[in-house]
Amino acid sequence: MSDSPQLTRRPEWAALEDHRARWTAHLRELFAADPGRAERYVVHVGDLRIDYSKHLVTDETLALLYELAAATDVFGLRDAMFRGEKINVTERRAVLHTALRAPANAVIEVDGVNVVPQVHAVLDKMSDFANRVRSGEWTGHTGRRIRTVVNIGIGGSDLGPAMAYEALRAYTDRGPAFRFVSNVDGADLHEAVRDLDPAETLFIVASKTFTTVETLTNATSARSWLLAGLGGEEKAVARHFVALSTNASKVAGFGIDPDNMFEFWDWVGGRYSYDSAIGLSLMIAIGPDRFREMLDGFRIVDEHFQRTPARANVPLILGLLGIWYGNFFDAQSHAVLPYSHYLSKFTAYLQQLDMESDGKSVDREGHPVEWQTGPVVWGTPGTNGQHAYYQLLHQGTKLIPADLIGFARPVAELSGELKAQHDLLMANLFAQGQALAFGRTAEEVRAEGVPEEQVPHRTFQGNKPTTTILATELTPSVLGQLIALYEHKVFVQGAIWNIDSFDQWGVELGKVLARRVEPALTEGAEVLGLDPSTAALVAAYRTLKNA
Ligand code: F6P
Repeated sequence: MSDSPQLTRRPEWAALEDHRARWTAHLRELFAADPGRAERYVVHVGDLRIDYSKHLVTDETLALLYELAAATDVFGLRDAMFRGEKINVTERRAVLHTALRAPANAVIEVDGVNVVPQVHAVLDKMSDFANRVRSGEWTGHTGRRIRTVVNIGIGGSDLGPAMAYEALRAYTDRGPAFRFVSNVDGADLHEAVRDLDPAETLFIVASKTFTTVETLTNATSARSWLLAGLGGEEKAVARHFVALSTNASKVAGFGIDPDNMFEFWDWVGGRYSYDSAIGLSLMIAIGPDRFREMLDGFRIVDEHFQRTPARANVPLILGLLGIWYGNFFDAQSHAVLPYSHYLSKFTAYLQQLDMESDGKSVDREGHPVEWQTGPVVWGTPGTNGQHAYYQLLHQGTKLIPADLIGFARPVAELSGELKAQHDLLMANLFAQGQALAFGRTAEEVRAEGVPEEQVPHRTFQGNKPTTTILATELTPSVLGQLIALYEHKVFVQGAIWNIDSFDQWGVELGKVLARRVEPALTEGAEVLGLDPSTAALVAAYRTLKNA
């Protein structure tokens, strides 16, 4: 890679710049000239139908983007990732979340050791434990059944299981309740446990490193709460605490029985980990069979990404579209708008996946990049967003490409009027895609008899690009497919930008500084080296705290 030319000096980049400089077409014109694009710009992977016809692209644009992907050897890096090479260069680690969903007979080696048997051994251990909790065979210290599971973790050790639990609620047996505690704000744990009975509560402490201060602080407080509620008997901890981690010695040091630890490995990044042991809470909720269906869904997209030629390769296409807007149209952000209540945490999950992966400003060799990298990812479920920020999408000055995600059927549990509401939900999705793309011209507004002075206000420019992702139903497999699709899209973009999508040094500085400032807040200690603004804030905090 180090011998390759800088991205922006490649001829393929210059060709795209030139194409962009000549670009004037409106989506209205593109569809008028070529109605066939409605069918031609549709690709499938697994159960997902991906329509990218409402994008500011032509066959020529796509050809130029594929040339850029070829020149930057996206598929070469992809193959290195799947082979287990250490493509996380700054941490010298393999990147093998794909091994978490590999079939039992696959062989994927890290440092000469096949990791697939370990993956399946942990899955089996998780399944056994999940079944015992679900059946009531695993009881608390006093012999009572577990009624609430509290996952304590943060970042990838929280967002994935919390998102997937919401997404697949309809696939739970409505047995134990699930709560997710992440914030070091004591209010989070307080609200999570205030109405719980410790005798019926299981804590899952999820931390890849088992050194994350938020998680260890909450876990320590949870332990105290448990012991206070169960008469202080230390041995109660073994029945009420399990750990998910790569760090056995730290887990033992915390006082959790290593038998109650579910392992994963340093080649699984935190934001790529909810299909590892980090998914234990989800597995307890939906059961091992559904969990494995979800893994099968991930694998469908992994295999598609590995084997499908560029022109039908969905993660590649979505990644290239993001490059087109971010690097050639100066789009700063990307909206993900699911039309599913169950996907209420989906975009928050993608924020970490995308922004922690591709929020980088040096390349893989450490040189500053001269091109834009990862976008700001944002969004909430669609209809709620329509009554909040869609105004800006439609009539604001910014270009914000968006993904609209919907399902042909609501989950099976819905019936009667609630089931019928689904058509209205989806009508909104289709209407938004249409309005964003085609807008409403001044002539159309005038033809409706709108007074002339209001015409500019009621005109919609249109020409706003969207991808529509449609599946039959939000099943465990479909959720796995969606997540793997975004994982690989993020990968494609990082490969083209030549950045390390798998480290996260940018979160370290804040952690170090917080550790330095904390004694000034708790013990009133003098902290040397604070800048004047922060020193004044600390002083004001101390005064207010003690007032
Ligand atoms: O925010 C930084 C980070 O390291 C994330 O990448 C990770 O998901 C999160 O902290 C939690 O880390 P851990 O699972 O080690 O507690």
